[in-house]
Amino acid sequence: MRIVARDLGMRFGSRWLFQGLDFAWEPPSFVSVTGPSGSGKTTLLGVISGSIQASAGDCIAETDENRAPSSAGWIVQNSPLLVSRTALENVALGPLFRRVPQSESLARAEQEMARLGIEHLANVRAKKLSGGERQRVTVARALASQARLILADEPTSSLDAEAKVRVATALRSAADDGALVIMATHDKDVAAFADTVFDIGQRTTR
Ligand SMILES: Nc1ncnc2c1ncn2[C@@H]1O[C@H](COP(=O)(O)OP(=O)(O)O)[C@@H](O)[C@H]1O
Ligand SMILES: [Mg+2]
Repeated sequence: MRIVARDLGMRFGSRWLFQGLDFAWEPPSFVSVTGPSGSGKTTLLGVISGSIQASAGDCIAETDENRAPSSAGWIVQNSPLLVSRTALENVALGPLFRRVPQSESLARAEQEMARLGIEHLANVRAKKLSGGERQRVTVARALASQARLILADEPTSSLDAEAKVRVATALRSAADDGALVIMATHDKDVAAFADTVFDIGQRTTR
């Protein structure tokens, strides 16, 4: 699997958010997409995931498995939680949706929550979690899925310094274990955990 962008551009009205982006990213790798707030990081992740149509150029997922990208394992970290389910159940939903048996899904969920330091929240319903706790639950869910491609949008924005390092280290391990992790962040310390830092701001014509 490879994510390839050629001369990719995004325009809203007459204003180009970004233009002329070229990249080819494949697993195993950890890529940080950086740039100031409003530079188009979230939009670029949307284009990569296929949920947003680019204005120029193209961005495709080349799959060697001869399968649709969805079955190659796309996980977007910041999708909603089921508020009346526990944190553990929410994390286990990641692998369950990928047809991993329930017992293994729960085991993976426990393991990822421990890695992120939120194992004490296992039985707490999602609606009672703080913003930072929810953020780590969504990261744990993405990691427990063991997807080939993980898209993480500002996964540490609500976290303190220690929790940030835990999340960045966990994403780093996912890449070391064979995933392509693409993370949008405006936090330079977190971006430094990646193999490649792709600064969208430097490539933008306004
Ligand atoms: N659907 C849209 N229509 C018009 N403008 C948009 C739309 N989506 C995003 N934008 C513009 O793109 C800018 C950057 O968006 P975003 O990708 O969220 O940046 P970042 O994630 O780097 O903060 C926003 O400030 C907004 O002006
Ligand atoms: Mg954003």
